[in-house]
Amino acid sequence: MEIKFRDASAVSIKTDLLVIPVREKQLDEPAIRALDQRLKGQLRQRIQKSRFTGAEGSQLHFSTAGLLPAGQLLLLGLGSEGEIVSDTWRKIAARARKEASALGAEEIALLFAPGKDMEAMAGVIVEGIQLASYQFNKYRSNAKPPAELKTLTLFAPGLRRTTAAQKSVEMAETVAAAVFLARDLVNEPPSMTTASFLGEQAERFCRGSGLSVEVWGKKKIAAMKLAGLLAVNRGSHEEPRFIKIHYKPAGKTKKKIALIGKGITFDSGGLSLKPAKSMETMKLDMAGGAAVIASMSCLPKLNLDVEVTGYVPTTDNLPGHNAQKPGDVIRYLNGKTIEVLNTDAEGRLILADALALAAQQKPDSMINLATLTGACMVALGTQVAGIFSNHQALADDLIRCGRDSGEKLWQLPLVKEYREMIKSSVADMKNIGGAHGGAITAALILQEFVGSTPWAHLDIAGPSFAESDSALCPKGGTGFGVRTLLKFLSTL
Ligand code: BES
Ligand code: MN
Ligand code: ZN
Repeated sequence: MEIKFRDASAVSIKTDLLVIPVREKQLDEPAIRALDQRLKGQLRQRIQKSRFTGAEGSQLHFSTAGLLPAGQLLLLGLGSEGEIVSDTWRKIAARARKEASALGAEEIALLFAPGKDMEAMAGVIVEGIQLASYQFNKYRSNAKPPAELKTLTLFAPGLRRTTAAQKSVEMAETVAAAVFLARDLVNEPPSMTTASFLGEQAERFCRGSGLSVEVWGKKKIAAMKLAGLLAVNRGSHEEPRFIKIHYKPAGKTKKKIALIGKGITFDSGGLSLKPAKSMETMKLDMAGGAAVIASMSCLPKLNLDVEVTGYVPTTDNLPGHNAQKPGDVIRYLNGKTIEVLNTDAEGRLILADALALAAQQKPDSMINLATLTGACMVALGTQVAGIFSNHQALADDLIRCGRDSGEKLWQLPLVKEYREMIKSSVADMKNIGGAHGGAITAALILQEFVGSTPWAHLDIAGPSFAESDSALCPKGGTGFGVRTLLKFLSTL
């Protein structure tokens, strides 16, 4: 796709689909007035008849019948001025792309007047345009590939391409590709995405200057004393893997960051078996790991001067004949012990290894992403991830990066009084809490393994998997976390 910036007005631009974003109840804008004049008042009439007001999500499609150089006109509602954020523009761009493909338009020209931060917003628009084209068609026999978009023209009177805008657009294209990789890894059926497959994918995609990958097999995992990963893997016929990806840019680096992702390739619950309905989407349980692999994969391209290590412990959680049993105790490499009372609370068991290992390297901060608890979904729904942190500045940074990326994070507390709930009668702690506050007790268990390292835990159980289609993402894996992580790493 070619991206153009043009100093032009709506009435002069030649394109297949002319897109005009409209603020609610602001239908007297110069662009609309000029268009209406050329269209001999017909646009005004249509607006009145259709009662289009520019409400968020609304649209009005108009055929220009040769009265304009543009073939079709599409007004898209931005909603009320006070509620417009960067994600509003991302969604506008995605809807423009969807509409273009429905109309068979190969070119879009979009009136680009974001108000502020034009440079960053150019990237946001390109991201929306790219994300809207994602499809997972590998297992469909009658699928059509997404309609190609040849040109995107951003135009406005006085608009010019700047180096910063160009950079922002390039970053958006790289980020979208990483999001697609994370979505693909989640959408792939679980008998395909085994731990060894995930390791191979990491080796395949995490290449480039400064990037190296290690994939540890069972022997090395045992030698490194990753006891939680071995315990969860016991019920499976598939070998576990521990994926370690390292990015070290050539120059001197200021910061060292660790990213940790939960890589349960399928969560049956183990002997504490889940009901059938709850298992339907449990291929999603490696979404945190997928986000880490995908984010790492584009670090050389983004050319960031920060050292990053990604850790992905991966296995499926199955009830095979040698499976771990409720009542078993795991002894971790940092000396702590966990009594396993529910084998379905397995994410924390494998993350504990990875967090303890990562903390040994003394990174400036570590961030883990995990589809950890149904309780977090109950609390925040499917659009918002929970964030827990022992370091408020880190949490604030991530929440802000999430807001800019269109990924909502809401902070939940590490309530120290609730440590009572994870006390065990035989070990240092047990792997489940009480009836309430399940997202918090899970986070408290993770906290036991991070020491004093600044750390944030993102519980992405809700937003990692979309239950229905939207403009930015079809039903299935969403790639949640990739955008926030890359924004965070690039602003350090
Ligand atoms: N992978 C699940 C959490 C999950 C649930 C993710 C729904 C996405 C959608 C996790 O391993 C799990 O099973 N958690 C249990 C913990 C419980 C046994 C303490 C849960 O949330 O029910
Ligand atoms: Mn589970
Ligand atoms: Zn799980």
